[in-house]
Amino acid sequence: MGWVSARDRVNFWLVCLLCMLCSVSGIGVNWGTQSSHSLPPDIIVNLLKDNGFQRVKLFDADYGTLKALGKSGIEVMVGIPNDMLASVGGSMKAAEKWVAKNVSAHITSNNVNIRYVAVGNEPFLETYNGSYLNITYPALRNIQSALVKAGLGSQVKVTVPLNADVYASSSGYPSGGDFRADIHDLMLMIVNFLSVSSAPFTKNGFGNLPIIVGEIGWPTDGDRNADVEYARRFNQGFMSHISGGRGTPMRPGPIDAYLFSLIDEDDKSSAPGNFERHWGIFTFDGEAKYPLNLGTTNSGALVPAKGVKYLERKWCVMKPSARLDDPQVEPSVSYACGLADCTSLGYGTSCGNLDARGNISYAFNSYFQKNNQLEVACKFPNISMITKTDPTPTAGNCKFEIMIQPYYESAGRDLSVPRSLWTWFMFLFIFC
Ligand SMILES: *[C@@H]1O[C@H](CO)[C@@H](O)[C@H](O)[C@H]1NC(C)=O
Ligand SMILES: *[C@@H]1O[C@H](CO)[C@@H](O)[C@H](O)[C@H]1NC(C)=O
Ligand SMILES: *[C@@H]1O[C@H](CO)[C@@H](O)[C@H](O)[C@H]1NC(C)=O
Ligand SMILES: *[C@@H]1O[C@H](CO)[C@@H](O)[C@H](O)[C@H]1NC(C)=O
Ligand SMILES: *[C@@H]1O[C@H](CO)[C@@H](O)[C@H](O)[C@H]1NC(C)=O
Repeated sequence: MGWVSARDRVNFWLVCLLCMLCSVSGIGVNWGTQSSHSLPPDIIVNLLKDNGFQRVKLFDADYGTLKALGKSGIEVMVGIPNDMLASVGGSMKAAEKWVAKNVSAHITSNNVNIRYVAVGNEPFLETYNGSYLNITYPALRNIQSALVKAGLGSQVKVTVPLNADVYASSSGYPSGGDFRADIHDLMLMIVNFLSVSSAPFTKNGFGNLPIIVGEIGWPTDGDRNADVEYARRFNQGFMSHISGGRGTPMRPGPIDAYLFSLIDEDDKSSAPGNFERHWGIFTFDGEAKYPLNLGTTNSGALVPAKGVKYLERKWCVMKPSARLDDPQVEPSVSYACGLADCTSLGYGTSCGNLDARGNISYAFNSYFQKNNQLEVACKFPNISMITKTDPTPTAGNCKFEIMIQPYYESAGRDLSVPRSLWTWFMFLFIFC
């Protein structure tokens, strides 16, 4: 999900990513999995249920994730990543295989309530330089045909999640705009196709077709415009707005929406900005970040994840005896930050007020935790040590995390073991 410039901040249209879907009721949420340490899928499914989410949007069709959603009753949107569009768009056989493996099998043998297939994820984003322009529509058609062929034509709908940048408005208001010139005809073709196969999206002229907001939210860290109070106000305001059923000026009435997002993901690219790893309404380990009333729980509060298993209570910090001007400090910090996560250290962020030693310790600890507290991951030459005293400052929101226990997927595709070994070797290479 892209950030918005300061100019656009008040204009939530640019934070919304529009999905082309039929209307259903209930609040949904995006479940992304780009984390170094993911919570086990069954814990997340309980988190979804405890918080009354009736719908979930996935970015792929991971087997373990879908298996955990079986029998939950939660409506699921599975996704075809952009890098698979060429294959399913180029071959009907590949599309049929994708549907058989990633939709039909889960519905029949696992009772997963799959209702939508998202074909690509914001494939027309301007930063992709048109890489997916000619393949998205063929992929959409092939997947739709494959669904019909599998007898799922009326149960599972296709959609293309699009960023608001498909839209251009000369007046500055959403209602004054039209599709971007370079994709104008393609967008009309897609809208027509979806409307004929009754999985609609619309703008002016297709007024009877409903719209869904595929991603909406506010990050809590990594930028001076991202903190828990802004995020709480934005998300609570949005929840109250949609529960009032007011819709938008062009489109009054209920809007269906998927919050962005469920949990923080520390392995996401921070290229769009350091906030990119902080979109969750829950932290990476399933703690509520701020009070948010979704209108779905008796208490009116978010319910945290249950049964989360943590590593030991220990941290890696800068040795008190080490000097700030030690020549090893700078390369050690850049090494740690390069491989772990220092997105909470910049100006105006949750740990932005740490002093220089706190800063260095934060970086060391992040690396240490990400590597499952391996002893060798706290051997920055002569300047680091392991401690059992929590270095988290008593005031403010800065937190020195303890990592959760790594979860090994049943399919054995978890990368955390080779990755920590690899970083271990890197470490020896650099420091020995
Ligand atoms: C099913 O989805 C997964 C996850 O996105 C993907 O890796 C796999 O290739 C897909 N299977 C087929 C047969 O296309
Ligand atoms: C898009 O083009 C720009 C400028 O030509 C280039 O820097 C960038 O890497 C390209 N991005 C992709 C995803 O191809
Ligand atoms: C899409 O365009 C690329 C380059 O512009 C081309 O290599 C590819 O064959 C095209 N694919 C289709 C299905 O037209
Ligand atoms: C802490 O680290 C951040 C990011 O690396 C940097 O911008 C900031 O100036 C540092 N603060 C101190 C006090 O060193
Ligand atoms: C580590 O610190 C000790 C004492 O402060 C010093 O004698 C030693 O030379 C240092 N070693 C390295 C590799 O800097």
